[in-house]
Amino acid sequence: MPPSAQVQAPTPAVARRFFRPTWAEVDLGAIVRNLTALRARLKSGTRVMFVVKANAYGHGAEACARAAERARAADWLGVSSVEEGVALRDAGLRLPILVLGSLYPFESVLAAVAHGLTPIAASLESAKRLVEVAERLGRRVDCHVKIDTGMGRIGARPQAAEEIVRFLSRGGGARAQGLYTHLARAEDDPEFTAEQLRLFRGALAALAREGLRPPLAHAANSAAALKFPSARFDMVRPGLAAYGLYPGFEPALTLKTKIVFLKTVPKGASVSYGATWRARRVSRVATLPIGYADGYPRALSNRADALVGGRRCRVIGRVTMDQTMIDVTGVAAARVGEDAVLIGAQGRERVDAAELARLCGTIPYETAAALSSRVPRVPVGVGA
Ligand SMILES: Cc1ncc(COP(=O)(O)O)c(C=O)c1O
Repeated sequence: MPPSAQVQAPTPAVARRFFRPTWAEVDLGAIVRNLTALRARLKSGTRVMFVVKANAYGHGAEACARAAERARAADWLGVSSVEEGVALRDAGLRLPILVLGSLYPFESVLAAVAHGLTPIAASLESAKRLVEVAERLGRRVDCHVKIDTGMGRIGARPQAAEEIVRFLSRGGGARAQGLYTHLARAEDDPEFTAEQLRLFRGALAALAREGLRPPLAHAANSAAALKFPSARFDMVRPGLAAYGLYPGFEPALTLKTKIVFLKTVPKGASVSYGATWRARRVSRVATLPIGYADGYPRALSNRADALVGGRRCRVIGRVTMDQTMIDVTGVAAARVGEDAVLIGAQGRERVDAAELARLCGTIPYETAAALSSRVPRVPVGVGA
């Protein structure tokens, strides 16, 4: 039996798509529950934009978005590029989709609108292009104006953003449906966040005085939505919490592989490139078919643990491009074909993305988003 046949998969077709036994199970039920739990904390009527950019932080954008849409757990989807949005439209997703990234070159605006995506306007120049596109297509184009209140990435500074909204109100075929900002320090700096929110509120108030406040104001990522109720406005934009990568939410992704090779090495034997690990005793070494080309970082060499038989087993020697070795000495369950969990729970043990991120000196966003296209995503749970 090929190893893939043992993979618990929703349909035989999915199981047959891969043979190398390395895959990521994505619990769509967990994602729906996380979004629902977040929504339950919001005032009724506050919308939820599920941020599914970067292949849903590595979780598989299509399946995640579809699960949220079917369960009515989100009102909007957020992507970073026209390409990501078009892929979701091609897959049949119907929720409104905001393209959060900059629309450069401007030709992409045409593609965005033609595919029913909502573009942003981060400068007067881009707002003018939206008006041109609206005229060319002979239809109204809704956009969200991006105001930079302290992130310093894309977006017009407050007064310039107000000017963009005023320009769009003059009836040129494009309309400011939303005004939004992004918070740079919601996780760790309430004062910085308060100042960003003050600037945002100021712009909204100035526009409201002229009767121009866009219907959808939004600012909050997961941390802000949870920590700062005043940042919720008309809509929140969770990514991290939806995937269970934020404390208190249910992790949705389990990165699994199987032992494909097992050997006993004598005391003093070395393992992998550079011989950075040597056996201090007779040891059992298991080889896992996963490496840094799968997004399992080389920085985890000799540092991370994988779970086998519910026990932590240290990664030994350098993680290579396609394979990684672990020390399974004394782990009775270890045999060829046995499951190994690299991210997620097994028995009572858990290795979460945050643990791996810490070991690499990075953040769970990067750990999840780095999982490469070589790792099949297998949806499980509700809606899979
Ligand atoms: C503009 C914007 N909104 C919302 C989010 C979601 O943030 P989080 O994953 O922290 O909830 C992101 C992600 O970086 C973003 O860039």
